[in-house]
Amino acid sequence: MRVRVLGTAAGGGLPQWNCACEVCGTARAAAVGRTQDCLAVSGDGTAWWLVNASPDIRAQLLAAPELAPGPARRQTPLRGALLTSAELDHTLGLAALREARDFTVHGTATVLGALPVRGVIDPYGGFRWSPAGDTELELAGGLTVRAVPVGRKRPRYAAGAPDAGDWVVAYRLTDRRTGGVLVYAPCLAAWPPALAAAAEGADCVLLDGSFFTDDEMTERTGAGPTALDMGHLPISDSLAHRASYPSARWLYTHLNNTNPALVADSPQRRAVERAGAEVAADGMLLEL
Ligand code: MLT
Ligand code: MN
Ligand code: ZN
Repeated sequence: MRVRVLGTAAGGGLPQWNCACEVCGTARAAAVGRTQDCLAVSGDGTAWWLVNASPDIRAQLLAAPELAPGPARRQTPLRGALLTSAELDHTLGLAALREARDFTVHGTATVLGALPVRGVIDPYGGFRWSPAGDTELELAGGLTVRAVPVGRKRPRYAAGAPDAGDWVVAYRLTDRRTGGVLVYAPCLAAWPPALAAAAEGADCVLLDGSFFTDDEMTERTGAGPTALDMGHLPISDSLAHRASYPSARWLYTHLNNTNPALVADSPQRRAVERAGAEVAADGMLLEL
């Protein structure tokens, strides 16, 4: 399996347009940043699937050589997308892909039913919406995928929608040829037993690294909810599970711009590395 990590920042990216926190200020001054959380995965290197569709998708696709169109003039290796949630930072990119043909979007029935962008794209005619159940799904290109329910956090725009339903899932992707397994969970409110089981035998676990500590927003910006109130398990908590999966590569993504682990020589980054984990980087390629 090939995994191109297209983006690694939480909603807003790094730097975030309206934020002058220390980490955003440093990124702005150095003109280096991160785009919003998104992946592309493939079993055969020919058929590729997005996992989430970030608002930065255009720049992310242009930066990934294997996602370039061709050889026919309107042929693209992208077959579709798997959504982990209905959040805007994971779904707005679909509008930028509206010219797609034969593009299948997988997600829970709850997520697909809530997406405002769906009504916007449908008239363009190229999208199919495929509500994923709890069975394994075979994707073109040699991957098998299973959705793992991990939470009920609704996007703020869907506050009026019924609370019931699977709003947030992780995905366990298996390459049918190599047996390589990736677990991708960019939004985690807790460490549910279903995720613990899905991570068994994984070669790589790519996790919610939004915040390093629970009170980070207040500490860094002077106000704001806690990480757990926002539905994000802080790295300082999830890192405790790392030792239970010694053979997996353990990476953090969806980093909020307040997260001190973004800074290469920070004590928080060193704590991640001491635990045998990594902060994922935009553009990195994993082979499983
Ligand atoms: C989240 O991950 O908590 C959401 O994407 C927040 C947002 O940007 O609306
Ligand atoms: Mn998000
Ligand atoms: Zn900031």
